Amino acid sequence: MQSATLLGFTTLALALATATSPQEGKKKIEKPGAALPTYDNLDLPNYDFDLSLDSEGEFFDPSLYEELYDYNDLAPKIEVGTLAPPTKQPEGTRAMLTDASRKPPPTSPPDLLRSIIKQGLPTCLVCVCLSTSVYCDDADLDQIPPLPLETTYLYARFNRIRHIRASDFARLKKLKRIDLTSNDISCVDDDAFRQLSTLQELILAENRLPALPALPSSLVRLDARFNRLQSSGLHPEAFRKLKKLQFLHLSDNKLDAIPVPLPEGLRSLHLQNNNIQTIHKDTFCESQDHSHVRQALEDIRLDGNPVNLSLFPDAYFCLPRIPTGRFD
Ligand SMILES: *[C@@H]1O[C@H](CO)[C@@H](O)[C@H](O)[C@H]1NC(C)=O
Repeated sequence: MQSATLLGFTTLALALATATSPQEGKKKIEKPGAALPTYDNLDLPNYDFDLSLDSEGEFFDPSLYEELYDYNDLAPKIEVGTLAPPTKQPEGTRAMLTDASRKPPPTSPPDLLRSIIKQGLPTCLVCVCLSTSVYCDDADLDQIPPLPLETTYLYARFNRIRHIRASDFARLKKLKRIDLTSNDISCVDDDAFRQLSTLQELILAENRLPALPALPSSLVRLDARFNRLQSSGLHPEAFRKLKKLQFLHLSDNKLDAIPVPLPEGLRSLHLQNNNIQTIHKDTFCESQDHSHVRQALEDIRLDGNPVNLSLFPDAYFCLPRIPTGRFD
């Protein structure tokens, strides 16, 4: 459906580009080295990349459409990560998108154009939007771009994003998965994810986080491996309210304690390669209640921690399987 829309739009944009008399093109958008399938040899006029509404509704840059994929033949040719972003993300793009939905520009573009603008199409030129998935892997991003409101799955791996702002995902009420693996994130606003009531998977692996923000109770999987997390960087009882959490992967960090309490539905707890030195008798099991069975928690990894697991024989009675780690 969406690709059909985009195809239609591509045709429209090309018609528009060839029909309009070329303006004096000063800067040409840098084209990536990768060969594009269809529009490579078209000689389209150059336009400055200007998305502001102030310039009489001329906020579409047809030269950008040189870089569109041939959506007819998408599956075999898709190459995530070979598109370079436009020279610069214009300031206030988000505000522009909101304005566009409220008051149409003086020279009103066709409805199709307008609805696509509202969906955040400029991002879909930098990234690949397939249905409600947005793929922004390896796109040289230094911040989260404005995303289509319908975005369900976001992949922005292998970029150089440093900071996640509270506003980045604020309008996105359908997100189920955010994957920001391998960026430079060292700071996340505490409210960046809290309100995302449909978010099931949050993947922040391979970043520089010393702390975790507040988390939504819908989370099933949290992956923050290979960061700089310290126990003081976790909210007190950070995971207690996450009743749906099944996978908590915090290996290769600087934690010196197992975060408690662990939600009852947890199936997999990865804490290998941290600085955990001790285990409390109530960490996994309720020491006063020997009928307590933690059926789900089958996969606990504590290897690579300076802890002698043999010293805590009473800590594992409720578990279906004892943790992996050092039993000297
Ligand atoms: C680990 O704990 C066990 C049980 O108390 C003990 O016998 C063993 O010597 C300890 N190993 C080390 C390396 O401390």
